[in-house]
Amino acid sequence: MTKLTLNARSIKDPATAKTQCVVVPVSGDGKLKGIAAQIDKAHGGAIRTALDLGDFSGKRGQTQFLMGSGAAQRVLLVGCASKSKKGFARDDARELATSISKTLPNSRSKDALVLLGDLDINKQDTRWLLTYLARSLVTARYRYTATVSKPKDPSQLSRLVVDPGKSLGTAAANTALTEGKNTGEGVNLARNLANLPGNICTPNYLASEARKLARSSKKLTTRILDEKKMRELGMGSLLSVSAGSDEPARLIVMEYKGGKTKDAPYVLVGKGITFDTGGISLKPGAKMDEMKFDMGGAASVFGTMAAITAMEISLNVVAIVAAAENMPSGGATKPGDVVTSMSGKTIEVLNTDAEGRLVLCDALTYAERYKPAAVVDIATLTGACVVALGSHASGLYANQDALAEQLLAAGVETHDRAWRMPLWEDYQKQIDTPFADMANIGGPGGGSITAACFLARFAEKYDWAHLDIAGSAWDSAPKGATGRPVSLLTQYLLDRIG
Ligand code: BES
Ligand code: MN
Ligand code: ZN
Repeated sequence: MTKLTLNARSIKDPATAKTQCVVVPVSGDGKLKGIAAQIDKAHGGAIRTALDLGDFSGKRGQTQFLMGSGAAQRVLLVGCASKSKKGFARDDARELATSISKTLPNSRSKDALVLLGDLDINKQDTRWLLTYLARSLVTARYRYTATVSKPKDPSQLSRLVVDPGKSLGTAAANTALTEGKNTGEGVNLARNLANLPGNICTPNYLASEARKLARSSKKLTTRILDEKKMRELGMGSLLSVSAGSDEPARLIVMEYKGGKTKDAPYVLVGKGITFDTGGISLKPGAKMDEMKFDMGGAASVFGTMAAITAMEISLNVVAIVAAAENMPSGGATKPGDVVTSMSGKTIEVLNTDAEGRLVLCDALTYAERYKPAAVVDIATLTGACVVALGSHASGLYANQDALAEQLLAAGVETHDRAWRMPLWEDYQKQIDTPFADMANIGGPGGGSITAACFLARFAEKYDWAHLDIAGSAWDSAPKGATGRPVSLLTQYLLDRIG
């Protein structure tokens, strides 16, 4: 897929600018002023006509293509009547960007000019709008093509110029666009990895993907631990998951060094189950195919690493991906088996389908060696989280309030939102068992919480948060990976730059 080029520029005379599509926000009051009035005049009153005919009213979220009769071949009208009395707010900006992204990349326009000069919007919100617009456009152009012999037409849109208006200078505007673009490309990478089928995207495939990413920057290195090395480290819990599979597990470590040598790194840990059959506690057949996205946490870690590498941020960040396939076989772990984790803690595997926590706990222990500033793990961990929060929010757990607040804020800022869930001590006893230090399931109540409680026992030595993305990482209609929470994670890291 060709990449989208984005540029901010001040356009002296918008009415005479040559473009395949000029994008004009129109307010909902029926009046045409400023730039909208100039474009209307240049196209023989076509906008006025659309308003008079009632085909287009300027209502928030409404869009209308007109064939141009001036310097622009097409005119895309975007309704942006504000719902708030305080003028154009973030919500309005988000809806404007979403409307443009839903329509523009699907037209035949190869280039477009977006004119934002009429908007009554402040500097901060303009910057935000540009970042969000760039990200939305880049993600709207995504098509899954990897295993389709005759892919659908790619988006024709390859070049976009934005006039941000007077509130923001072009240098700042370009920075905002680039940030959105890099984040969007990270989101698309995550979607692509999560959409790939389990027979292609294996633990080894993810390892090769890490090596590929490391080749893109001198600041990024990668190290792959094989099963022999993991056995030496005592990762009996992680290895109990891959025991039933012909695909060997991999612990994938990527180190991004953008900060000072002595700066403590931020560590991202991703669940990388490349296919989850449930193991001996086999899942039902319906929708089992969707369990190819059980490496969605790992995919979001890859996407985030790609984004921060492209932006060359000045932080140290370590990614740890616990990659394995969960299959039933003669060698598979059985319900009731007891395994010993790298921490030395023993685990009774009461359900082999609760495998995510089994691979993550050893990765969390491995993270201790980095003396991290904070550790965030990301995992499609529980169906219970989907029941609790649906798909709009990722479930957030943390052993430290400030870290939780920072992640929640990054989610609000990017509209890739999370919602905090309790990690109370009271839930811990649900995973007690007479036969080991803990069981890997906690009974029917609070399934997402008890999974987090299990992980918390391996994250006592540092500030830690856990994102359960079982609901947010996958869309059912149209089917496919969302690339969440790459935007949240990237923003969280950007906010940490001193
Ligand atoms: N990968 C699943 C969780 C999941 C379910 C993700 C639906 C996305 C959509 C996880 O490994 C799992 O199977 N969890 C079990 C835990 C149970 C056995 C305690 C679940 O949620 O049913
Ligand atoms: Mn499972
Ligand atoms: Zn799973």
